[in-house]
Amino acid sequence: MATEKEIVEGVAKAVISQQDYLTELDSKIGDGDHGINMARGFTAVLEAVEEMEDPSNLSELLKTIGQTLIETVGGAAGPLYGTAFIEASKICGDHPPVTIENVEKILAAGIEGIERRGHAQSGDKTMLDVLIPIHECFKPENANGKTLRECFNEASKAARDGVEFTKTIPANRGRASYLGEKSIGTEDPGAVSSMIMYRAFLAALRS
Ligand SMILES: Nc1ncnc2c1ncn2[C@@H]1O[C@H](COP(=O)(O)OP(=O)(O)OP(=O)(O)O)[C@@H](O)[C@H]1O
Ligand SMILES: [Mg+2]
Repeated sequence: MATEKEIVEGVAKAVISQQDYLTELDSKIGDGDHGINMARGFTAVLEAVEEMEDPSNLSELLKTIGQTLIETVGGAAGPLYGTAFIEASKICGDHPPVTIENVEKILAAGIEGIERRGHAQSGDKTMLDVLIPIHECFKPENANGKTLRECFNEASKAARDGVEFTKTIPANRGRASYLGEKSIGTEDPGAVSSMIMYRAFLAALRS
């Protein structure tokens, strides 16, 4: 199984490699900086993790990622993603086993952090339209009787469905909301970056 550090590297590299695509989406309905912001942030994350004494400590690792994203990403997404990682770091413990329950708890803490900070909800055409459906897959009512692997796979599909859903709705938050109905037809950049992060996490976990 991949180490925690290798998983972060997988996620960071995936985000950096999709910089142009994220920028293209944000150019259509925002100010065109999401890819640049995220690539800058995850380049800094790679450096920060390299300097950590013990990146296998999940709580320390998530805190480092969150602080680095807040300091370097900027825009709306930096503080939101940063808060998510920091809130998750507070409840995850140092070496939690990868279980459905723990994944559920960590995602819940991160999503609550984003909601508190950004006041957006499901259907506003944001990163939450991917993160909330991912989280749903690990909740007891949906995960009951399933294996962790099945939950991970369902969440991967839910992430793609969430991105597709953002195409069909107008934005209610951020600069994209200034476009109103004209934002329909384009995927939300933050929803796409969330899907990229989740899928890269899963690919790295399994490698
Ligand atoms: N209040 C919010 N809650 C959750 N996500 C949000 C919120 N506002 C913006 N986002 C997400 O952030 C993404 C844009 O991030 P970006 O890095 O481009 O920052 P930005 O240009 O400052 O954002 P924006 O133009 O949305 O204010 C959006 O695609 C959306 O997913
Ligand atoms: Mg932007």
